[in-house]
Amino acid sequence: MHENTPEITDLILDAADKARRETDSEPEPEVTTQVNWPVQCTVGPGLEGAIACTSKVGYVNGTKGWLIYRGYDIFDLCAHSCFEEVSYLLLHGKLPTGAELESYKQKLFDYSNIVSVKRMLLGFPVEDMNTMAALRLGTLLMRQKQTYRDRNIAAMEANHEVLSSDEDSIPMETEPSGSHSAVYEFSRKTYRRPPGVESELRGSEGFESCYHLIAGLNTITGAVARIREGRMPLEPDPELSHAGNLLYLMTGRRPTPVEERIMDVALILHADHGMNASTFAAMVVASTLSDIYFSVGSGIAALSGPLHGGANEKVLHMLAEIAGPAEVDGWYEQQREKKRKIMGFGHRVYKAYDPRARVLGPLAEHLAKTNPEVEHLFGVAKRLETKVVQTLGEEKKIFPNVDFYSGIVYSSMGIPVELFTPIFAVSRVAGWTARVLEYLENNRIFRPRGVYVGEFDKKYVPVDERG
Ligand code: SDX
Repeated sequence: MHENTPEITDLILDAADKARRETDSEPEPEVTTQVNWPVQCTVGPGLEGAIACTSKVGYVNGTKGWLIYRGYDIFDLCAHSCFEEVSYLLLHGKLPTGAELESYKQKLFDYSNIVSVKRMLLGFPVEDMNTMAALRLGTLLMRQKQTYRDRNIAAMEANHEVLSSDEDSIPMETEPSGSHSAVYEFSRKTYRRPPGVESELRGSEGFESCYHLIAGLNTITGAVARIREGRMPLEPDPELSHAGNLLYLMTGRRPTPVEERIMDVALILHADHGMNASTFAAMVVASTLSDIYFSVGSGIAALSGPLHGGANEKVLHMLAEIAGPAEVDGWYEQQREKKRKIMGFGHRVYKAYDPRARVLGPLAEHLAKTNPEVEHLFGVAKRLETKVVQTLGEEKKIFPNVDFYSGIVYSSMGIPVELFTPIFAVSRVAGWTARVLEYLENNRIFRPRGVYVGEFDKKYVPVDERG
């Protein structure tokens, strides 16, 4: 599949060999095939240790530093697969045949052409918006365009007229008479449901909406990138892969084969990761029988936080703060004195190297060789990694996580830092949707407990007697 980038495949296989050598001594995990509910588990704040469900989608082993999608090792998938195939695997639980893969790729490409959604997006101040807010807005506009869950189908079928403001009725500052209220003229127009679109949410819990979202987030991220630069969004290029189009739609430049491959590997690495905060958020929303578009919107919101997907953006700002490798030790000691967490390090599950960092680090190094500015960043990052692992690795099992090198990889491909977390979402939407579909097969609304530690028997005092 990747004959034109053998050097990247070799780099990944070397990282895999190193990982297996370094973690071979860790005990093999016990295999669980069945959970008999209710289960006993020790739960800490933030549901740490809580078992929310069973899943066949993906597996993370924190001591071995393993990441597995539907039984396949992440290193193998990075070396031999592509994001389209991996997203199919996560959703369907099996690798596609050649014909299935071609048909799926074509569907993703077709669904990435969302001109009306991009046009609606242009009506918002995207250039001034947080990029994850713009991405989430895009999913809502997709929901509006691609589903009819909220529409009054009867009214539409009866061709009832609906109020709509169209370009002829732009708000006028004042009438000729100089009144001070903007005058909105609503033109009454008859709304007809486009042919061939189901009235109900198009298989909202079904695969079609997932494909639309996987395809659409790619396009919306590209459109947000272009609008932020004051340029019109581009149309996806049928000659490029999903990863290639992501780069092209964001930067306006067709990537080299190596850049396209590296972005593809990055998308594979970020696609799923157990019950992380954003996946859990998406599943909680789905468990109320809301719909997949709202679920993905919740996943985007959770991912935007700096303790989660937003860390990759913070890492770049952090590295840029440090003048050079020689200044790392002094900077680090200052952070430790202030008890500040080092962005891109530590993980709730991994107490060994994050296997994703094991791949992204060498990819960053490969790209840094041909990019002096990034080479400087990489030099600082490498020294910081050594320092943190020396001091916190053994003592607290704190190692680089997926966010530590991803930003350097993206920077070296000309991607602005504000788009790092949206790229994470472009990939993770595969894991979000796969786990939502799986959970809905045996749905139970999420409703954990909170232990009340407040007061009782308080006597109500009228406000004028409260002093
Ligand atoms: C992602 O869940 C997932 O799978 C997430 C993710 C995914 O793919 O979905 O893997 C993606 O979110 C990666 C993480 C990106 N976030 C960061 O890089 C932000 C920096 N990392 C930390 O905020 C932290 O490590 C977390 C949030 C990632 C995990 O924190 P935990 O498990 O809640 O650990 P903790 O905050 O309870 O810390 C335990 C100890 C503390 O020291 P003590 O108070 O015991 O002395 O470890 C220390 C912490 O101070 N610690 C760190 C540290 N992370 C934890 N010290 C310095 N730097 C850090 N980064």
